Amino acid sequence: MATISYGLNGKVFLVTGGSRGIGFEIAKMMLAEGAKVAICGRKQEGLDAAAAELAAGENLLAVSAHVAKEEDVNRMFDQVVEQFGTIDGLVNNVGMNIATGAVDADFGLWQKIVDSNLNGTFLCSRKAGQIMREKKQGKIVSITSIAARRAAPFMGIYGVAKAGIEMMTRVLAQELAPFNIQVNAVAPCMVRTKFSQPFWSNADIHDQIVKTVPLGRIAEPADVAHPTLFFCSEAANFITGQILMVDGGATAV
Ligand SMILES: NC(=O)c1ccc[n+]([C@@H]2O[C@H](COP(=O)([O-])OP(=O)(O)OC[C@H]3O[C@@H](n4cnc5c(N)ncnc54)[C@H](OP(=O)(O)O)[C@@H]3O)[C@@H](O)[C@H]2O)c1
Repeated sequence: MATISYGLNGKVFLVTGGSRGIGFEIAKMMLAEGAKVAICGRKQEGLDAAAAELAAGENLLAVSAHVAKEEDVNRMFDQVVEQFGTIDGLVNNVGMNIATGAVDADFGLWQKIVDSNLNGTFLCSRKAGQIMREKKQGKIVSITSIAARRAAPFMGIYGVAKAGIEMMTRVLAQELAPFNIQVNAVAPCMVRTKFSQPFWSNADIHDQIVKTVPLGRIAEPADVAHPTLFFCSEAANFITGQILMVDGGATAV
């Protein structure tokens, strides 16, 4: 692919869950544009490995934080503003699933999945919205999933949480539009990361999934990172409250 520029030079972004997978790819592309980027994750060793690979010096801040813990989120935003002086955009990338049927799930499991996907997105978006509202400019992009629109076995609680992010995207888009803050979301199908490795590394399951994708393959992290950077750019200044399906046409069928 030819080199594409999104004009993010000098901008400051927080990418939650940027220590691997899709978030790592988003952070890498932003840093290549000349942006200053903060990433977070729960495990320090993952952050250390990501920081070593990104090798971005003072343009990168790696923060250990759980996005569903309010005190962690407040500390993380304080660190970002302290190091970079401001924040121009938030990417709510953290997500997790533990494959389970909803009917048999205990409440603790429900809470865990809703916490990391939906509650974390709320806590981070609220904080980013409050900071960016002051300067009347900003971008919030959340990574949801086609699971928000398709009930699938063992993905039910995750799908409910992601559907909540879709509505939160529209709600925050309305609330923050008067402050020139655009809020959008990207909804991928299966992406080749650790998150979904048990599925795509199994040849039979992989082939079954690919049959549901008109473009005939699963997504790579870069397929999701590009539209995310677009939403973070000035080219998307008149787009808000939208969910972009990045699924090779799967939900168009
Ligand atoms: N891969 C797919 O097939 C696929 C498809 C559709 C949508 N998505 C969505 O895309 C997003 C990124 O997924 P991915 O595939 O890149 O996942 P991944 O490879 O599992 O990476 C997840 C990242 O989030 C961090 N993380 C997880 N829970 C966290 C928490 N509570 N607080 C802070 N950090 C946390 C992880 O670091 P630690 O483990 O150190 O916390 C890691 O950096 C998610 O929202 C996911 O739901 C993925």
